[in-house]
Amino acid sequence: MLRVPRGCCLQQEHIMSKVVDGEMPRLLRDEVKKSRWPARLDLAQSFSGLALGLFMWTHLILVSSILISKDAMMKLTYFMEASFLKPEEPGGYPLLVSATAIAVFLLFIAHAGLAMRKFPATWKQHRVFRAQMAMMKHSDTNQWYTQVVTGFIMFFLGSVHLYIMASQPDNIGPYASADRMWSGHMWPLYLVLLFAVELHGAIGMYRLAIKWGVFDGDDPRRTRRRLKTVKTLITVFFLALGLASFAAYVKIGIEHAPHAGERYQLGSEP
Ligand code: HEM
Repeated sequence: MLRVPRGCCLQQEHIMSKVVDGEMPRLLRDEVKKSRWPARLDLAQSFSGLALGLFMWTHLILVSSILISKDAMMKLTYFMEASFLKPEEPGGYPLLVSATAIAVFLLFIAHAGLAMRKFPATWKQHRVFRAQMAMMKHSDTNQWYTQVVTGFIMFFLGSVHLYIMASQPDNIGPYASADRMWSGHMWPLYLVLLFAVELHGAIGMYRLAIKWGVFDGDDPRRTRRRLKTVKTLITVFFLALGLASFAAYVKIGIEHAPHAGERYQLGSEP
């Protein structure tokens, strides 16, 4: 007979008795249930990240229309409100912007919730991770940490911006946006958010490509090197575009400050 060690807990005794009764195969089936949920949650995190990343790049290109002209930004704003369905008057349906902002907000919250599963939960875990990072000096591991920090920043600052977009969808345009930035004192938030978004987005897309091996080819190491270069170029490009747009809104905001609140009329650009 198989002897159970002294002091062993009840659960172990129960398992041992099952082993003794020759129930090993059933035990493995019954007691060690494999869950598909971690894989499903991982997939959901990747898809929500991909959708948000593509949204952010498109969004920054749209916001940068101010670099072409005030008219270009105003026309694009009306277009996003589906003004083509209402040709008789300027502007469209700002509620569409609200709906998009709410949908993005929900996706944003879901993505953050999924990502939090992997965050260090206690100060001790955090210190262990930092110590390993310092020891390993592995750039992909460091980048994961950058994502944790920028994700944390985005959660607060991005929420403020999304709430404003959802609640004031008709308050977007060359003057409305510039006044919000300058006279509404939002520029520090946008500046920090811009860096957080750009770093987080580019690193996120790079990690997705590595994780799912989308561009692996016959030499994954070479691909990884190339992906790193592409990631750096994309970060520099979007940061430069974002900063140029930021400067344009701030400049318009300063010039327009005495008339803050007045809306831009199409074709009134000097
Ligand atoms: C449907 C959702 C969104 C809409 C309609 C929207 C719209 C806008 C608009 C119109 C601006 C120009 C400034 C202003 O009017 O206040 C802007 C700037 C900005 N947005 Fe969004 N946004 C959305 C979602 C997001 C999200 C999810 C993020 C990041 C978490 C984000 C990050 C930024 C940043 C960093 C800027 C400043 C860009 C620059 O100065 O170059 N936006 N957004």
